[in-house]
Amino acid sequence: MSVKLDPRLLTIAEMVRTDGKICDVGTDHALLPCYLYEQGAKNIIASDVNDGPLKSAEATILQYGAQNCVRVMKSDGLRSIPPCDDIIVAGMGGELIARIVTECAFITENTRFILQPMTKAEILRRTLYENGFEILEERTAESSGKTYTVMLVRFSGTKTNISDEFAFFGKNTDEVYRSSVKERLKKLVRSNEALKPLLK
Ligand SMILES: C[S@@+](CC[C@H](N)C(=O)[O-])C[C@H]1O[C@@H](n2cnc3c(N)ncnc32)[C@H](O)[C@@H]1O
Repeated sequence: MSVKLDPRLLTIAEMVRTDGKICDVGTDHALLPCYLYEQGAKNIIASDVNDGPLKSAEATILQYGAQNCVRVMKSDGLRSIPPCDDIIVAGMGGELIARIVTECAFITENTRFILQPMTKAEILRRTLYENGFEILEERTAESSGKTYTVMLVRFSGTKTNISDEFAFFGKNTDEVYRSSVKERLKKLVRSNEALKPLLK
């Protein structure tokens, strides 16, 4: 039986390198680690801070026979996680993802973060750049009629303040994503006139 991912998780999976050490932070059901195992990944941590998701992750790992390559770890963000090459943080709010990434204590030139915020992508982008991270690429992921962005991120060491335009749209040039951001901006301009030029 092979793992079936929804389009959102599939887009995330396609941005992960399968030849290194991988950690899926906030794994919940662990479908993504099991899919990556089926794609050839041999060293994957499925981590979560809550016991319920960890139980569900263990059941999924057994269901797909991935227990030799996928191990479950309890951790708040990356606090208890050993060094990894590709770190996925998906399906959480932008502020929480920003906290998890900026707390990472084992970054090297090779470290990559694959980030998919459900909300407040602009706060995530601002925090990343203020802390010396940069976005290499963004792709659109759609799920249940909603549009999200998935960011591929690395540490550059250069701290930058980004523009409002880059904070809201990032490196995602897809018209579907940009339209969804503009819909949100229409509500935000009611309390912040300075954002109005971004609607053009
Ligand atoms: C909505 S689920 C997303 C699951 C999966 N990553 C996805 O994108 O489908 C969010 C998961 O993050 C976990 N989580 C929340 N805060 C966390 C933290 N500080 N560290 C690790 N996991 C966390 C929750 O327990 C939950 O399982």
